[in-house]
Amino acid sequence: MMTLNHFLQFSDLNREEFDYLVARTVDIKARFKRYEPYYPLQDRTLVMIFEKQSTRTRLSFEAGMHQLGGSAIYLNTRDSQLGRGEPVEDAAQVISRMCDIVMIRTYEQSIIDRFAANSRVPVINGLTNEYHPCQILADIITFIEHRGPIQGKTVAWVGDSNNVCNTWLQAAELLDFKLNVSTPPGYEIESERAQAAHQHLEVFADPMEACRNAHLVTTDVWTSMGFEAENEARLKAFADWQVDSDMMSVADQKAVFMHCLPAHRGEEVAADVIDGPQSVVWDEAENRLHTQKALMEYLLCGRV
Ligand code: CP
Ligand code: NVA
Repeated sequence: MMTLNHFLQFSDLNREEFDYLVARTVDIKARFKRYEPYYPLQDRTLVMIFEKQSTRTRLSFEAGMHQLGGSAIYLNTRDSQLGRGEPVEDAAQVISRMCDIVMIRTYEQSIIDRFAANSRVPVINGLTNEYHPCQILADIITFIEHRGPIQGKTVAWVGDSNNVCNTWLQAAELLDFKLNVSTPPGYEIESERAQAAHQHLEVFADPMEACRNAHLVTTDVWTSMGFEAENEARLKAFADWQVDSDMMSVADQKAVFMHCLPAHRGEEVAADVIDGPQSVVWDEAENRLHTQKALMEYLLCGRV
């Protein structure tokens, strides 16, 4: 049975849907690698709304929609009426009458929730201040490809408790793995979030301890989009939260390193880690394409 209407948070998925998306990703990726035409979304239109910058998200959605036989339209705040204060509800009513599916990258989660509540068509979160669910879908499928099921494994998050970290936490709950988190003081996971996920979360003051025996070590920029004014303070506060070879050396011997990108070598990650043998960041980035194609197919066609 199809229960997923929109993909606004990772927790919108149930376990069965996640497993289905993994299977569809494997199939869709294999067809792509064989150069096999596959057009289940012929004549369908994706509208992509960006209120923040992007390389991977735009490219993977736009190329993905094209590869599935459909087309994609790019809108941004600067060039559309969204930047001149048209209410989100009105924009949702209009945009969703002219296309089949919408992807939005914006600021507060409440903006995408309001859009979805007024949309006739499925809405996908392409990153908000609170969540980045498409990223974690790609990350976990990348882990499965390299190391098998994630259930029962330990993921170490080092750095800011941002949108990507919040989404890892939702995934840990759904897929039953453990998330070790170490953030600098003052940048902890919000207590309500931490409390709700306490069975799958362990918080560490020392990032080395968070990484100990982890099967996956991951991090993200110290300053996310929209928080640029805090950059100076964050550079100081996060100085000891760089994923380096010492941290990787206490992780499981077969641990992989991930980063959603863009990365800042010498800040949140040392160059020899992101460019080293344990890093799977390029596979991770590529899998944005394959997982989102599976997601759009599911939202528009159901089970095929
Ligand atoms: N990881 C990610 O979402 O990258 P972009 O900001 O380039 O889309
Ligand atoms: N946490 C980062 C992710 C970028 C893909 C940001 O929100 O800017």
